[in-house]
Amino acid sequence: MPSEFYDVIHRRRDVRGQFTGAPIAAEVLDRVLAAAHAAPSVGLSQPWDFIVVRDRRLRAEFHEHVRHEREVYAGSLTGDAAARFRQIKIDGVRESTLSVVVTYDPERGGPGVLGRHAIADAGLYSVCLAIQNLWLAAAAERLGVGWVSFYREEFLQRLLGIPERIRPVAWLCLGPVSYVEDVPDLERHGWRRRRPLVAAVHADRWQGSRELA
Ligand SMILES: Cc1cc2nc3c(=O)[nH]c(=O)nc-3n(C[C@H](O)[C@H](O)[C@H](O)COP(=O)(O)O)c2cc1C
Repeated sequence: MPSEFYDVIHRRRDVRGQFTGAPIAAEVLDRVLAAAHAAPSVGLSQPWDFIVVRDRRLRAEFHEHVRHEREVYAGSLTGDAAARFRQIKIDGVRESTLSVVVTYDPERGGPGVLGRHAIADAGLYSVCLAIQNLWLAAAAERLGVGWVSFYREEFLQRLLGIPERIRPVAWLCLGPVSYVEDVPDLERHGWRRRRPLVAAVHADRWQGSRELA
């Protein structure tokens, strides 16, 4: 069994609190980005771009926006959930070494992208595969990645000069970490548990929901 491969998959975590800020060697960053760029894409459209954000002022400005959006979300919670959410860190924008913003260009590949005529989202799926490749490659390099989605797309477009037709899909914090948790942060904080595989696999047809709460 190719155990190292599965080991990386299961070792990968979303990291928020363990970034050290130590430098990333240029060749390591190149390998991680090359892994992202090797992802499959609908019609070979490769509709992604990667903006490597090192500028501390840009990151501070983004972090301020994330802090605001965190408050917006917190305002929608009550009781236990509100108290639990207060304990959960949702980003490592300032502490990580750098960030990679991954974008989606719906016009890449021209008007007739092979395989996208019936499912417009197939372009977006392709970008998510690039992100997953990046995440796993980083885990293999013993780097942490934290996906931040507490932002408004228009804010990020303005901040980084991203053209209007291009969608920012993810802000990824990236860098060396002091350690990696075994259990996802949201599970450790009692926010939500992982669903067992047996509840997700169906035979032949969709069969009744075996959802946990
Ligand atoms: C699309 C997407 C958006 C996410 N956005 C955030 C975020 O804004 N803040 C955060 O702390 N984690 C974010 N996460 C990380 C998830 O919370 C995390 O993947 C999940 O809890 C499972 O933990 P694990 O990745 O360590 O297995 C995001 C993950 C995905 C896939």
